[in-house]
Amino acid sequence: MSKVLVTGGAGYIGSHMCVELLQAGTDVVVLDNLSNSCAKSLEAVQRITQKKLNFIEGDLRDKSTLAKLFEHNDISAVLHFGGLKAVGESVNNPLSYYDNNVNGTLCLIEAMTNADVKTIVFSSTATVYGVPDTMPITEDFPTNPINPYGQTKLTIEHMLRDLHNSDPGWSISMLRYFNPVGAHPSGEIGENPNGIPNNLMPYLSQVAVGVLPRLQVFGDDYPTHDGTGIRDYIHVVDLVRGHLNALEFLQDNPVLAIHNLGTGTGHSVYEVVEAFEQASGKTIPCEVIERRAGDAAESFADPTKANEELNWRAEYDLHRMCVDSWRWQEMHPRGY
Ligand code: NAD
Ligand code: UFG
Repeated sequence: MSKVLVTGGAGYIGSHMCVELLQAGTDVVVLDNLSNSCAKSLEAVQRITQKKLNFIEGDLRDKSTLAKLFEHNDISAVLHFGGLKAVGESVNNPLSYYDNNVNGTLCLIEAMTNADVKTIVFSSTATVYGVPDTMPITEDFPTNPINPYGQTKLTIEHMLRDLHNSDPGWSISMLRYFNPVGAHPSGEIGENPNGIPNNLMPYLSQVAVGVLPRLQVFGDDYPTHDGTGIRDYIHVVDLVRGHLNALEFLQDNPVLAIHNLGTGTGHSVYEVVEAFEQASGKTIPCEVIERRAGDAAESFADPTKANEELNWRAEYDLHRMCVDSWRWQEMHPRGY
């Protein structure tokens, strides 16, 4: 029976993907080196779904592991989440980002070629757009990443495009995520950052649960309605459902396609804080500090292409994102 390979499946987004796949009746193989996750997430996935998956602990860059994986499993498609994602870390350690992300993807694609598996959905990012002059962002905006992490993602996009040009038998979906947040409604899986979180929602959650004292707001002098940065937050469950639609789309259209996955609505830092306070019933102390280098004033998607071509749209609003993030955090104050 054919199966889907989920690289990085023990991670935040990948674990939610596994739940949706198993619930849709698809068999799942996960490859993850656990460099930014732990296997408990996969135990939770199996508890939620009451179904088993096949977990292989291994690295994308380990060619023999990949060859064996494809030899022993009848894989029909790959959902490729595996890689490193911390912008600041990528500035300090760019080569490990090129190695894990670009080289890791290269090894994966070589193994897929050898196994004649030619369908892949790749986790790209809105970071590839850099800091555009106008909003909302459509897929034909210029790409201009301003950090090594974004460069690795754009390099992979280029690699996949060249591959498709050389062999149109490939079906490739590149999904540019905006800001994934929230957690599974069961509260069993969620975002589990190592150390102090870099991103707004996990930081807020840890303030609300008492692990961190206060939120530092990175600038309130942006040209936005309340001076704080605006982002397009998207519920992780909506995001992973977009991948199921992308897989379906590739079955009908063996093409290379790029789609933004966002809600199309931007929210400021203060709006997120207020929504989180309402969802959690906790007060979030805030302190305004200077802007974070490299942050744009606003970033939000035009998701029309995904709405029309993938027949997908985000359903959950900011309140629901906060309610689900909070449930996960309250049930796991220190993570898994
Ligand atoms: P995550 O760190 O929780 O998950 C990534 C997983 O990949 C981890 O479990 C990690 O252990 C694994 N991994 C890393 N390098 C590996 C390697 N060489 N071999 C095997 N496994 C490896 O991150 P996430 O938030 O779930 O993100 C998933 C994907 O989506 C990433 O590719 C990320 O760049 C992309 N993305 C994430 C966001 C976001 O804000 N979370 C936004 C845009 C794009
Ligand atoms: N912010 C704060 N305080 C914090 C953290 C964030 O004020 O402690 C602000 C930021 O300045 C920004 C907003 O909250 O205005 C969102 O910041 P995040 O760090 O949560 O998200 P970013 O948009 O900066 O970047 C994230 C990921 C990238 C990814 C991008 C688009 O970090 O990897 O979304 O998908 F590529």
